[in-house]
Amino acid sequence: MLRIAVLVSGKGSNFKAILEHITAGRINAEVALLLSNVPAAPAVAIAREAGIPVWAKSHKDFPSRAAFDEAMLDAMRESGVDAVILAGYMRLLSPGFIRAYRGKILNIHPSLLPAFSGVSGGADARDYGVKLAGCTVHFVVEDLDAGPVIIQAAVPVRDQDDTPTLMRRIHSLEHRVYPQAIAWFAENRLVAEGRVVRLLPGVDEPAVAAVIADGLPALVHPPLERGF
Ligand code: GAR
Repeated sequence: MLRIAVLVSGKGSNFKAILEHITAGRINAEVALLLSNVPAAPAVAIAREAGIPVWAKSHKDFPSRAAFDEAMLDAMRESGVDAVILAGYMRLLSPGFIRAYRGKILNIHPSLLPAFSGVSGGADARDYGVKLAGCTVHFVVEDLDAGPVIIQAAVPVRDQDDTPTLMRRIHSLEHRVYPQAIAWFAENRLVAEGRVVRLLPGVDEPAVAAVIADGLPALVHPPLERGF
């Protein structure tokens, strides 16, 4: 079974959704370690409550980004981690960290990449006035938010949306597409050919017929399979 590390800095709603799918047996993986650069983050409390091993230290107590990332790598190696899931981890990873787990680091971002990369993708899309917003799960490379795309979900932006209402809609999709992407990864069904990620067929799971996010129709591709 795939042993994953989950890296978090904040609320942990994606982490919670991932845990629920693991517990339900829909993702063939176990969380070997939860790591955070924000020890007081609610996500850390969720892990402790679930009995998951935690490594939580402030990056401010380390001399450099590389030193902090090396400490995370040491902890991950000790826990026998195979792959890394970034779930609201709001710090750049050093090249050394990315090299150590190349092709095995996934991230979720609250926009339709390559538009609106950075720390406030959802708010930036809303302020720009786009009519479709969404989220992207991608492999992590050295360049920020620029790795090969695994799955994307698009939702309408209504004229009356402000950042919180739009983010609520995007989050409801994140909690479905991220567990799905991790499930595919754990089943070895994702093949990256250059920038293009191909999804290998699985056991004939029917796709979810229609995806509704916060009352509005969403477009998800590749389609979510039953259970997600
Ligand atoms: C999510 O919306 C995720 O897409 C975003 O942080 C939020 C974490 O929420 N990540 C980024 O913006 C990465 N650049 P959560 O802590 O409730 O899962």
